[in-house]
Amino acid sequence: MVEQLTGKVAVVTGAGRGIGRAVAIAYAGEGCAVCCFARTESEVAATVSYVDGQDGKAMSRITDVTDYGAVEKSFETASDTFGGVDIVVVNAGVSLNATVEAGDAAEWQQVLHTNLVGAYHTAKAAIPHLKARGGGKIIFIGSGLGHRGLPGTSAYACSKAGVWSLTRILAQELITENIAVNELIPGPVRTAINKQDDEELRAQLGRTEWIKSPEEVAPMALFLATQPDGGPTAQSFSLMRRDT
Ligand SMILES: NC(=O)c1ccc[n+]([C@@H]2O[C@H](COP(=O)([O-])OP(=O)(O)OC[C@H]3O[C@@H](n4cnc5c(N)ncnc54)[C@H](OP(=O)(O)O)[C@@H]3O)[C@@H](O)[C@H]2O)c1
Repeated sequence: MVEQLTGKVAVVTGAGRGIGRAVAIAYAGEGCAVCCFARTESEVAATVSYVDGQDGKAMSRITDVTDYGAVEKSFETASDTFGGVDIVVVNAGVSLNATVEAGDAAEWQQVLHTNLVGAYHTAKAAIPHLKARGGGKIIFIGSGLGHRGLPGTSAYACSKAGVWSLTRILAQELITENIAVNELIPGPVRTAINKQDDEELRAQLGRTEWIKSPEEVAPMALFLATQPDGGPTAQSFSLMRRDT
């Protein structure tokens, strides 16, 4: 049976804008308490204020996912505030467009540190809280570029390839703990991370690609959060219209 979100608690990293904000608001609309982590205080506060205005439950924590100690502390606060953690959306991310030859090595490392090491930090800090509830869901926000890179995307594509590998390994490690671990690939979404306009995106990804709003990613995030115990794990769910 599909699970309800009422009474559940979700942590969403990068919930200050874009996809993370839309997912946090959608979860709160289904009765889930949401814990919004990101670095920009005004943005996570605005997400919480929006949820409050809809009579939902939300809290924010200024958290840089590259800092493991900070991530651990934020999970503890989230759990103390709402009584536990059931769902984790590992969403915080940055991008970089540069060829290997022309790009800057420090910027390349920073993308890996945020998208892959940050994802590892988030999942690692989540595990004891999910186990304490007897199970849960980890949803990694991946990318089609992690399955098939394009020129100029090495840092981003390598970080997301790592996220897809982490998804499959963690799913196996946690399968007996009733914790499902899956990847959600949004496809192109109009957010701050995307420096290209729709025409440029279609030129890169094909004229038939679905270029969407953050809100259009939320139904897939709801689907993954509400799958039953013993439901899918170690899978990639994509909203793209091409073979990733
Ligand atoms: N938009 C797309 O087309 C697309 C496609 C495929 C996958 N994705 C993935 O979707 C996820 C969300 O991206 P988006 O498109 O919604 O971009 P966005 O609007 O720029 O949102 C990114 C979020 O991540 C947070 N973040 C960045 N670095 C962080 C850090 N070190 N610690 C904590 N939070 C951090 C940002 O907040 P602060 O800067 O305030 O920390 C922001 O809230 C990313 O993982 C991205 O790779 C996006």
